[in-house]
Amino acid sequence: MTTPHPVLEALRQIVGAANVLTEGDLSAWELDWRKRVHGRALAVVRPASTAEVAAVVKACAQAGVSMVPQGGNTGMVVGSTPDTSGTQVVLSLQRMNQVRVLDGANLTVTVDAGCVLQSLQEACERAGFLFPLSLASEGSCTIGGNLGTNAGGTQVVRYGNTRELCLGLEVVTPQGDIWDGLTGLRKDNTGYDLRHLMIGSEGTLGVITAATMKLYPLPVSQLTAFAAVPSLEAAVELLGLAHRHLSAGLTGFEVMGRFALSLVTRHFPQIKVPFQDRDCPYCVVLENSDQESETHARERFERLLEAALEQGCVLDAVVAESITQARQLWHIRESIPLAQAQEGLNIKHDISIAVSRIPEFVRSTDALLAQQFPGARLVNYGHLGDGNLHYNVQAPEGSDAEAFLKNQEGAVNALVYERVDQFRGSISAEHGIGSLKRGELQHHKSPVALCMMRAIKQALDPHNRMNPNRVLSIE
Ligand code: FAD
Ligand code: MLT
Ligand code: ZN
Repeated sequence: MTTPHPVLEALRQIVGAANVLTEGDLSAWELDWRKRVHGRALAVVRPASTAEVAAVVKACAQAGVSMVPQGGNTGMVVGSTPDTSGTQVVLSLQRMNQVRVLDGANLTVTVDAGCVLQSLQEACERAGFLFPLSLASEGSCTIGGNLGTNAGGTQVVRYGNTRELCLGLEVVTPQGDIWDGLTGLRKDNTGYDLRHLMIGSEGTLGVITAATMKLYPLPVSQLTAFAAVPSLEAAVELLGLAHRHLSAGLTGFEVMGRFALSLVTRHFPQIKVPFQDRDCPYCVVLENSDQESETHARERFERLLEAALEQGCVLDAVVAESITQARQLWHIRESIPLAQAQEGLNIKHDISIAVSRIPEFVRSTDALLAQQFPGARLVNYGHLGDGNLHYNVQAPEGSDAEAFLKNQEGAVNALVYERVDQFRGSISAEHGIGSLKRGELQHHKSPVALCMMRAIKQALDPHNRMNPNRVLSIE
């Protein structure tokens, strides 16, 4: 019999024995969403308040135990699950899920980090406001995880990434101190911006326990269209037209390749995908939000689509007639990652490139991949409005996906990321680095930038206790 780690008793004293999980099936916390790595935790600890988080962090720091902050565990880069050593504590924020204060006049909401994104959206909507962050994982991802990864999603073209939506943070430092930065100020130039340092740091610099986020007025009308386009060039042309016609009314612009859509049809036959019988390589979902009226929204949207049809950058389009229909059109786009997961293990890329250069990148990189990895299937979709593609690679039809990944993932990544560098793009637009892309970061980020990042990590977390070996390796 092995003796239990002494920190466990201290943790039970802080959060109660029921909230220190060490036995049974812990896969909800130990296995990442993409099922890439099944880690093993010393314990899953579920604090219920900022004071408890601080006490847990202090106890772990004193015992020399490292911690992995976790929200909804929907991350794409194996950043929120423990390693396989059985020595790390998963610090789950799920019990800290309350909306603290909604300040309508300041257009802000202050919320616990473990609040599920959809619950926050709904609470804001009930109060008559829009919280615009929107991801297909919104039913389980948390605001802390969104901040930890600086999540993007489908409304970035208008409202920006999570970073742009955040006005303040409350953070527990790796030493267990509490920094209260929940001011809700829109202007504050008092030195280094610690908020921006924490956002996107993937749990490596501290634990976010609460945040003050921006709110917007609810749109009076929201219209969604699904359009078939003859090429990626045409999709980019349509994006330009949409910016000109709709201006700030353009709130979503997503592209989906034919093969990506065929996976939705294959795995979710109940979902009806428009234009599957048309000879079009890509489809686009676009959204127009309007503060005036439904009639105004429809007139502008129809003028845009008429111009696009005339110019030839749209072959055909449907505009949703109701909120239900609009949800159905969005649901097609949002089902792609799930359909791809059903199809089997895959190589996921989350790249960004200047919008103007995306067609050239895809044409030339598609050709190189086809030449070097015959039969590999390209699942291309994403947030074209932000220049962000999920340029994914699925194993050849009928082949052993696990073997394909084992033998080819490195070479596929090397090809794609070399092309991304040539186009001065990024190897991680919105998912982060986690442990999956940590090695790649060494090759694709400038040595000067890496050196500054390491210095920050060492200054804030000198004993490397917070999510070690994520983003950076510290020897
Ligand atoms: P987790 O997965 O639990 O954690 C992610 C990272 O944040 C980890 O490094 C973790 O340590 C850190 N972290 C978590 N909580 C905290 C905290 N309180 N303090 C400090 N660090 C913390 N991402 C996008 O950007 N855009 C998309 O469109 C998108 N769509 C998705 C669709 C699906 C179907 C799925 C499954 C995922 C999608 N994602 C998307 C990825 C994922 O949902 C986001 O990265 C999300 O922000 C993660 O939130 P989470 O609460 O699940 O975080
Ligand atoms: C998306 O845009 O659907 C997400 O980022 C998830 C994914 O890429 O699989
Ligand atoms: Zn995405």
